Amino acid sequence: MAGWMNSPTTIQKASPSRAPLPKAAPQAPYPLPTSSRGVERRRLDDMHHGIARYLKRLTHASIDRPSRILELGSGTGAWSVEAATTFPSAQVIAADMSPLPETLSKPSNLSHTRMNFLDPFPFTPGSFDVVHMRFVMIHLPKPETYIARLASLLRPGGWLLLEDVNHTLLDANRPVGPGVQALYHGYNKHMHKQGVDPNVGAKLKTMLEASKKFSEVNERVVPCYMNPNSTTDPDLQDLGEILKYSIDGVYTGIMDKVGLSGGITPQILRAWRKEVEDPERDLRIDMHLTWSRKA
Ligand SMILES: C[S@@+](CC[C@H](N)C(=O)[O-])C[C@H]1O[C@@H](n2cnc3c(N)ncnc32)[C@H](O)[C@@H]1O
Repeated sequence: MAGWMNSPTTIQKASPSRAPLPKAAPQAPYPLPTSSRGVERRRLDDMHHGIARYLKRLTHASIDRPSRILELGSGTGAWSVEAATTFPSAQVIAADMSPLPETLSKPSNLSHTRMNFLDPFPFTPGSFDVVHMRFVMIHLPKPETYIARLASLLRPGGWLLLEDVNHTLLDANRPVGPGVQALYHGYNKHMHKQGVDPNVGAKLKTMLEASKKFSEVNERVVPCYMNPNSTTDPDLQDLGEILKYSIDGVYTGIMDKVGLSGGITPQILRAWRKEVEDPERDLRIDMHLTWSRKA
């Protein structure tokens, strides 16, 4: 798509978004730092550009002249900026509990709204051609209840683009080692305590089909390899590397934020790192990209 590959998020001064955060927002069990600053911003932007380089498109959905696009969980704004650039005649709304980065160069057809997805959506039902949500379902309690809510925002024929990582490391050749097992034991325990599902990625397609809100449900599973020798595709090698340091940052962040109650200790993290860097292993983590057309 035009503009997709060659337009990384440019950094320049712009008006900050200062709308107050809705009252209920602190109840959201989101464990990560605000997405508009520092290391977290870099992590999300790197993931965005790694995915973009590999896919070479904004989405697999055949979106035809959309007039309204909504991104829920816009983070650093990278996807929303790309959508606004790719579809200059569409109005793109980026929604998140965090503001967009103050330095983001915002196309004129992109606006931002601060909201908490646990609250009712402040949008007119049936008013969007496209709704995109990436790496957010994993942070929402009872994710299956969101499918009907998201579908209600779309016009008939509109596209829901739901994308998430499945936080389970798989080894093509043998059982995963004790470091990986211990890391995921702790991580899953922490996530379940928050009432969220770290393995929602692999369930998206089934949840979308079960909702009966869509005339078609499509999925592409992208294997993100921890060992660059597992693939000869340089873009997939890069994506695996980016995902590896990105999820390492997530696990370290949870350990730093909630301490031992999160179930992840420095020793567990070290053992996990040793295994994911082991050249003899063929570890991967799957990213699930879905695109579904509203009936
Ligand atoms: C892991 S980031 C992903 C950001 C972006 N979609 C991307 O792919 O880079 C998750 C985003 O969802 C937002 N978020 C999580 N839970 C939320 C909630 N309950 N209400 C509003 N935003 C939420 C966070 O602030 C964060 O920006």
